[in-house]
Amino acid sequence: MPVSIQHPLILGAKGTLGGQLMQLYPEAVGWDREEIDVLDFPALRSKVADLARPPDAMINCVAFNDVDGTEDRPEAAMALNGDFPGRLAQFAAELGVPLVHYSTNYVFDGVRGEYDEAAQPAPLSIYGRSKHRGEQLIAESGGRFYIVRTAVLFGPKGASDLSKKSFVDLMLDLSTKRDTIQAVSDEINSITYAPDLAAATRDLLASAPPAGIYHVANAGGVSWFDFAREIFRIARRQVTVVPVPSTHFPRKATRPAKAILLNTKLPPHRPWQAALEEFLARS
Ligand SMILES: NC(=O)c1ccc[n+]([C@@H]2O[C@H](COP(=O)([O-])OP(=O)(O)OC[C@H]3O[C@@H](n4cnc5c(N)ncnc54)[C@H](OP(=O)(O)O)[C@@H]3O)[C@@H](O)[C@H]2O)c1
Repeated sequence: MPVSIQHPLILGAKGTLGGQLMQLYPEAVGWDREEIDVLDFPALRSKVADLARPPDAMINCVAFNDVDGTEDRPEAAMALNGDFPGRLAQFAAELGVPLVHYSTNYVFDGVRGEYDEAAQPAPLSIYGRSKHRGEQLIAESGGRFYIVRTAVLFGPKGASDLSKKSFVDLMLDLSTKRDTIQAVSDEINSITYAPDLAAATRDLLASAPPAGIYHVANAGGVSWFDFAREIFRIARRQVTVVPVPSTHFPRKATRPAKAILLNTKLPPHRPWQAALEEFLARS
């Protein structure tokens, strides 16, 4: 039976995804770093208790998202991506409301290439390990939780200055400065249009399926090289894209070579090319 969620609490409301969710839920309460440091859990509890109307769901978009940065700060990554979601899940269970939390295709090692919701995680990086830890602690909470794995977000930038800049924005910026761009051709990911992810989240909460792990990304998988070429083709930018191996750009965190999220539990999501066309037509 459909469930009416009207006024969720959205944490990370000024990020890329949080901003889209705020638009879908006009009555939501949205908090970001300016309102609260979510790691101060007693402060979070009392701020929720002070709300005139208790939230009817919690949606956690807060994360330590700097994949290479987590290699230098593993404890900070574990605190925000691992322990915090676990505590939040217990809190949501106490309040009797569902929790939506987002995880990543980087919980997989990239060997098999395509992963359904039941596939066994084997993260290669601190970021992946911290997000996997968050998944495990949420699953132990006993509440009604939805762990939504997603990958490579793009869309309108979040209001926060530090909100992660998407690959699409980076490529469009670079195209104003260079005629030739090198892009990695041996790493393949799912990619996700943030407004589609927000809409899928709203549908998930409304349809109230069994608690568990769900995969939400636009259909298909693509290398950074092919993604860049498609961005410039649609945006009509005259840029030559040169394929390079991932070893060409040494980075601290190891990424999976191919990690496509298969969605076997929810209605199908549109192909990434259609979402990219829509985004670039809007920008
Ligand atoms: N972006 C991707 O490509 C990607 C890929 C896979 C999965 N995901 C997952 O999808 C979710 C949403 O990602 P996103 O890209 O929308 O994130 P985002 O744009 O970085 O937004 C996260 C928001 O949380 C805020 N925040 C961080 N630490 C906080 C704290 N301690 N207290 C309060 N607020 C804090 C950030 O503020 P500041 O800006 O001030 O730090 C930011 O506004 C995350 O769980 C992420 O791991 C994202």
